[in-house]
Amino acid sequence: MPRVTGLRCRNCGAGVPTGPSYVCAACFGPLEVTYDETAIAATLSRAAIEARPQGIWRYLELLPVEQPPTRSLPVGSTPLERADRLGHALGIERLWLKNDSLNPTLSFKDRVVAVAAARAIEFGFDTLACASTGNLAGAVAAAAAAAGLRAYVFVPADIETAKVRQALAYGATLVPVAGTYDQINRLSLEIADEHGWAFVNVNLRPYYAEGSKTLAYEVAEQLGWRLPDVLVAPIASGSLYTKVARGFAELVRYGLVEPKDVRFVGAQPAGCAPVASAFAAGVDRPVPVREPRTIVKSLAIGDPADGPFALRQAWATGGSIESVPDEETSAAMRRIATLEGIFTETAGGCTVGAIERARERGVIRSGDEVVALLTGNGMKTPEAMDDPAGDALFDGDGIRAGVRIPATYDAFERWFEGREDAPAA
Ligand SMILES: Cc1ncc(COP(=O)(O)O)c(C=O)c1O
Ligand SMILES: [Zn+2]
Repeated sequence: MPRVTGLRCRNCGAGVPTGPSYVCAACFGPLEVTYDETAIAATLSRAAIEARPQGIWRYLELLPVEQPPTRSLPVGSTPLERADRLGHALGIERLWLKNDSLNPTLSFKDRVVAVAAARAIEFGFDTLACASTGNLAGAVAAAAAAAGLRAYVFVPADIETAKVRQALAYGATLVPVAGTYDQINRLSLEIADEHGWAFVNVNLRPYYAEGSKTLAYEVAEQLGWRLPDVLVAPIASGSLYTKVARGFAELVRYGLVEPKDVRFVGAQPAGCAPVASAFAAGVDRPVPVREPRTIVKSLAIGDPADGPFALRQAWATGGSIESVPDEETSAAMRRIATLEGIFTETAGGCTVGAIERARERGVIRSGDEVVALLTGNGMKTPEAMDDPAGDALFDGDGIRAGVRIPATYDAFERWFEGREDAPAA
C-alpha cells in the first residue's frame, strides 16, 4: 500500500491524483501531498528512526517517496551546534545553529532536490531542471549527475560566480537569463510543459517542498525529541519556513514529541522583503518586489509563492518576519564566523540578523531556546565579507599585487612591529 494518497489543493481542498501536477484545475491554487496517516502511524516510532542510517531517508514514512532511491547523494543529518558565544552577544541563553551548509553541495537545497529527484525518477523523467536563485542550481546539477539524469539549470545572470562554477562542475547545462527569478519561474512553466522536463521547484513542487520538513525532524531529534521555543528560518519563496512548521506538527501528531507552541521568525533581506513588508503593514498578501537589490541573492524572490502562508504562520504563532539590511547581514556573517567558527552564506547572515531584530522587539526573549537554520555555506558568497570601502587585501582576482612580505624572518618581524591590517609591499 502506498503511503502517498495523492495531492490536495491548499486553497479549495480539491483532490488530485499523484503525478507531476502542481496547480489546482478548479481554482489554480498550489497543491500539497497527502498521506495515509494510519499506515504511517503503524511503522513510525522514535526507536525505528534511531535504528536507521544517518540522512534524510531515516524519515522515509513522512516523505512522498515510496522507497529510498538507489543512487543518490548523502543528504541531511547535519550538525545542530550549541552557539553560546554568539548567543551571549545576542542576549540569548540557549541558541543552537543548524549547520546545513555541510550538505553535499553546501546548502539545504540538497534536501528538497533529493526528494524531488527521487519522485522524478519514479514518474519516469530523464531530465531534471530548475529555476534557481543560485543554490538550487548546484543541488540539481549534482543530484542529476549522481542519478544519471540530464540537468538544465536556469539562473539570473547576476548570481555569484561560485554558484555558476559549481553547477557547471557537475556537468549541468546552465542557462543564464537576463531577468529576475520570478521571470525565470514563469518561463520554466512553459518549458516544463513543452519539453517534458522535471522542474524540481515548478512541476514537481509539491514533492520538492516536502524535503524541507527533514530539517524540522532533525532539529527535534537532535534536541532529544523536543521542540524549541523559537525557530528562525530564511524566506525566499517561503517554502522552507512553512514546511518546518508542518514537520513539527507531524512529529506531534505521531506522538514523537510533546506539543509546544513554537514561534516562527522569518528572515528577508531589506532589498527584497515582500513578506516582511506585508507583516509590518499588517496586510495578508505580500506586494511583489519587481527589482530585488540585495547581496542576499539566494533569497531574492520578489513574488514568493508561499508568502501568504508564511504571513499567516508568523501571526498565528506569535512570531515575526524581519527585514534585514545588507550591512547587518555582512556583520552577522562575520560574527557567526568569528564567534562560532561557522562560515555561512548571506542567507545565514540574514537569518542571524533577524534574530537580533526579533530580540530587540521582544518576539525572542533571553530565556528562550532558539534554533536558527544556517542554510548555505560562506564559500558560495565570499565577496559579501569584502570591505565595501575598497579592500586592502583583495582585488577582483585575488590578493593585490605588491601586498605580500618576503619569505624571511626579518621581513616578518618588520611587518609584525609596524603591523597594519595588510602587509605593505
Ligand atoms: C541558502 C538558502 N536559504 C534559504 C532559501 C529559502 O528557500 P525557500 O524558497 O524555501 O523560502 C534559499 C532559497 O533559494 C536558499 O538558497
Ligand atoms: Zn483549488
